[in-house]
Amino acid sequence: MSATSTEQVLRPHAEDAYAAELAALEAADERERPPGWRLSPWAVVRYLLGGTVPEGSGSGGTVIMPKYIGRRRLVEIAVATLATDRALLLLGVPGTAKTWVSEHLAAAISGDSTLLVQGTAGTTEETLRYGWNYARLLAEGPSVEALVPGPVYRGMARGALVRVEELTRMPPEVQDALVTVLSEKVLPVPELDTEVAAIRGFNVIATANDRDRGVNDISSALRRRFNTVVLPLPATAEEEIEIVSRRVDELGTALALPDAAAAGDEIRRVVTIFRELRSGVTDDGRTSLKVPSGTLSTAEAISVVTNGLALAAHFGDGALGPTDVAGGIVGAVVSDPVNDAVAWREYLEGVVRARPGWDDFYDACRALDS
Ligand SMILES: Nc1ncnc2c1ncn2[C@@H]1O[C@H](COP(=O)(O)OP(=O)(O)OP(=O)(O)O)[C@@H](O)[C@H]1O
Ligand SMILES: [Mg+2]
Repeated sequence: MSATSTEQVLRPHAEDAYAAELAALEAADERERPPGWRLSPWAVVRYLLGGTVPEGSGSGGTVIMPKYIGRRRLVEIAVATLATDRALLLLGVPGTAKTWVSEHLAAAISGDSTLLVQGTAGTTEETLRYGWNYARLLAEGPSVEALVPGPVYRGMARGALVRVEELTRMPPEVQDALVTVLSEKVLPVPELDTEVAAIRGFNVIATANDRDRGVNDISSALRRRFNTVVLPLPATAEEEIEIVSRRVDELGTALALPDAAAAGDEIRRVVTIFRELRSGVTDDGRTSLKVPSGTLSTAEAISVVTNGLALAAHFGDGALGPTDVAGGIVGAVVSDPVNDAVAWREYLEGVVRARPGWDDFYDACRALDS
């Protein structure tokens, strides 16, 4: 725990940002908790999906904000997996809340979402397990004091969840280091002729991106240690609008931007455009469209609207309008200047131009070219 207060931090960890919700759930939680868990699986699901704290304790009635918006069953499967000896792999296209869900699961189950390994091509076994304080190693030789434990080491020793982000970006031999950890639940430390045995409560949540398939596939030995939960794109426009509105509202509060409540029309517009271009067909099913190369994810919709709010606040009249989102939308759609530009042009002239009530937005997009 650092000395900086949560209010000063740009992005507090989930366990700090939602400390009051977690404490209220914990106080009221009478269901059985798996060993090492801070909450029962039922309460973890409630923390993720939102609702109220059951009556009957001092904290009864406390409102829990929904973190994940989507199918309850998926969250239940994810939480149940973590209570078994299998690890959890969250898979999905970019922007489907894999990282977000993993952070909140770790916060709710272990009270700590910071045991994190970021998978990159440069991730080494040492980052995962342990390294050495070389000054001490040279001065004293290998000793417990000279050992610098990594996230997996600490999670095992403490009985806490460890998050591995972007599993498939790590080189295969580093991924394989996880196989022993997950099957034997021990981490050998040959230099000290010892091992760390995992304390109950330890498990791993990994995330991986569908689109990265082929960068480094997950070995079948490792895959067998994981239960996979695929996080889908939002099923309906209404669901996606709700996700964007909630997140924009929260981010806006954190960044001291104007109220997002009045931004409903623009949020609907951004979501409509992204969904139409993603699926290659207009909402009414009548016109087929060229699909641009970008992902146009919910996460990108959130950032287009948040950027629009900043523009409106600092350079506009404070209310989010078509001119504030036009640039962000075009930027997200046109990531490849040749093919995507053609797809956008066709959409703009063929769909946007004719759509009732969208003339301001059409003009704002045209104005970007001049
Ligand atoms: N179904 C959803 N419910 C709640 N929030 C969502 C949902 N889908 C997306 N989001 C929001 O989208 C943002 C991005 O999510 P996140 O970074 O977790 O995506 P990701 O799946 O890890 O993407 P990437 O593959 O690019 O790492 C978060 O702010 C999250 O709140
Ligand atoms: Mg992610």
